[in-house]
Amino acid sequence: MADSGTNGQRDQRSEQGAKEKAAAARVASERVYVPLEDEDSVRASRDVADDEFLEHKRREVSDPREALQTPSMQEVFGPGGLLERCMTAGYEHRPAQLEMAELVHDAFQSHRHAIVEAGTGTGKTLAYLLPAICSGRRVVISTATKSLQEQLYQKDVPFLQKYFAPNLKVAVMKGRSNFLCKAKLHQMADQPVLRGMEEMDAFRQIRDWSKFTETGDRSELTFLTDDSELWPRLDARRETCTGQKCANFSECFVTEMHKRAAEADLIIVNHHLFFADLALKQDDFGSILPEYSAVVFDEAHEIEDVASDYFGRQISNFRFEELARDADIALRLLHLGTPALLRRTQRIRERSRTFFEAFPARDGKFPFTRAERAAFLEQNREAYDELAQALKGLETEFTAVTQKPEELLRLSRRSFELRQEMSFLFESNEGNFVYWFERRNKGVFLAATPIDVSQILRERLFEQFDTAILTSATLTVGGRFDYIRQRLGLDHAKEKALPPEFDYGEQALLYLPKKMPDVRDAGFAGKAADEITELLELSEGRAFCLFTSYAQMNDLYERIRTRVEFPLLLQGTAPRSVLLERFKNTAGAVLFATASFWQGVDVPGEQLSCVIVDKLPFAVPSDPIVAARVKALQEDGRNAFAEYQVPQAVLALKQGFGRLIRTKTDRGILALLDTRIQRMAYGKIFIESLPAYRKTQELSDVARFMEAPSPA
Ligand SMILES: Nc1ncnc2c1ncn2[C@@H]1O[C@H](COP(=O)(O)OP(=O)(O)OP(=O)(O)O)[C@@H](O)[C@H]1O
Ligand code: SF4
Ligand SMILES: [Mg+2]
Repeated sequence: MADSGTNGQRDQRSEQGAKEKAAAARVASERVYVPLEDEDSVRASRDVADDEFLEHKRREVSDPREALQTPSMQEVFGPGGLLERCMTAGYEHRPAQLEMAELVHDAFQSHRHAIVEAGTGTGKTLAYLLPAICSGRRVVISTATKSLQEQLYQKDVPFLQKYFAPNLKVAVMKGRSNFLCKAKLHQMADQPVLRGMEEMDAFRQIRDWSKFTETGDRSELTFLTDDSELWPRLDARRETCTGQKCANFSECFVTEMHKRAAEADLIIVNHHLFFADLALKQDDFGSILPEYSAVVFDEAHEIEDVASDYFGRQISNFRFEELARDADIALRLLHLGTPALLRRTQRIRERSRTFFEAFPARDGKFPFTRAERAAFLEQNREAYDELAQALKGLETEFTAVTQKPEELLRLSRRSFELRQEMSFLFESNEGNFVYWFERRNKGVFLAATPIDVSQILRERLFEQFDTAILTSATLTVGGRFDYIRQRLGLDHAKEKALPPEFDYGEQALLYLPKKMPDVRDAGFAGKAADEITELLELSEGRAFCLFTSYAQMNDLYERIRTRVEFPLLLQGTAPRSVLLERFKNTAGAVLFATASFWQGVDVPGEQLSCVIVDKLPFAVPSDPIVAARVKALQEDGRNAFAEYQVPQAVLALKQGFGRLIRTKTDRGILALLDTRIQRMAYGKIFIESLPAYRKTQELSDVARFMEAPSPA
């Protein structure tokens, strides 16, 4: 999250904001487009070398007087248009893509909100990027995951720069913990506190990389696993950053990221960062993103959940432990580690341990109602008060240090924030919040999450900005946008649901095995492993196996690992973008993954010929947030299963299957191992909501389909 701000900082920021606005306006007015009328301007002949072509374009756009009117979307996406002439790998005329681009373009021009559904693989990315760059406005593009940010930046942006807007400035912004903190790196090099050979080796690699990386983004570290214990001690998170007082501030990777964003036309973020920023703005705590004029939400069906997280409150045992750890490090580095001060941090550690141990030992996510919180406090009042006292004690001691260094002030502020969160979580009772706690591995998380974010988004987003574009392959239920608009508080918007671009009946075969046990049976995993093995043999690998939980993914991976010859990739063993790259470049690869690969991920062509889904992706009904939303709908006299749970799972399944067919020549197998789709009444809703795939219950049909030649 961003730095919290004092008045002075805020003033500086608004001055900065004004400068940024002026810079953005300059950028926008200077941006020029490839002239349409001039045949030569588009690479008519593939014989022209890229460099030559680019040089030609640079010369062409260097004189602003030559700036031309922006092209119409028909001239870009239509047959014989710019796109056709630029796309080296098989342009297809896609009417839905053109229509979407026109709608988005119109929304940008008329400063209105728009909500557009277009099927998976339609080419939505270009259908919003091109109108965005033609708008001349600074546009934030927010997508669901970091891997999708990288896909946009590595695939689509270079394409746009090459053929459409050579001067286009694009910045990628991610949360601070994705970046290396140079100050911490230097500290660790001076006073190594590394555990074992493996960590020393990883540290050496990170240090070498830090010398040449331009971004400092951990996604470039291909060897680093998601659960690395070293990285959190080196990352640039706000809590441990001393800001402008840091000796490395001017060349800090986070400073660089902000600089790039302040000059960019397009800023690519993920929903988490977007809503973290919006929530900070709400509290008047400053902001993370520079000023922008419009926002595009890709994978917009995800917004509700992410926004809920950021407009809620949360604490965990980790935050207390990190505070104590960071305080110890700061005291040591400042040579202030007196026994009295170190006792303070030790006390926080001990008191937080006692307090969090008071929560039930079993893993899971549980509601924490007003009565339950009162009962908890009655039993554990002492532990609660002592933890709050320990924090207060630290703040008092730190404030008493003469010439309070910035590090100590920041630590005091963190401690104060934690006390405030504690009192909100235990002593408030907001009607629109669901209170809950979760125990996961070594963590205990306490949170309050808004049940309904529509009013917050209406006021903070849709009434503050005049142009928000929401798009996804999965926004309508029963052909209408009512569900999503209501959940998000989007009252005024142009809307359109576009027909699919592909001939799903010809291109995809949906396999629904009939003899699987129920997904809740103990025998399910064993039989699922058999089915997946047979399917992989028929598809010669080249598959995504998508699971509804990590546990199921790991279990099936272990069961199948020794039974097939194909190269298997497992989510979590490398950064997502690296896994995706390996998948694309390894013949016959099979990827085992969960939610983050269900949406947006684009692997056109034969390399992905089979998508297997284990279960209907219902949100876990005992999840306190899901339960609270269901209850709220029921209290409103609505049918929560039909109106909330089924639609949500339908949208998720459509997303997962949507990975398979990405172009008109793609073909392949879809498999769903959950027989509830065939047995339960609600199964019909799923079948009816999916594209019109050909269906079978026989593996022999799958074999025949795979043997049939691809259409030209
Ligand atoms: N007109 C076109 N002709 C041929 N290929 C295209 C065209 N437009 C886009 N593509 C390609 O089609 C593929 C799918 O595009 P994209 O990833 O934007 O789909 P999408 O609509 O965002 O799907 P999803 O909902 O799954 O994210 C990409 O490989 C893209 O480069
Ligand atoms: S400015 Fe902050 S994040 Fe950047 S190097 Fe310094 S301490 Fe680390
Ligand atoms: Mg997409």
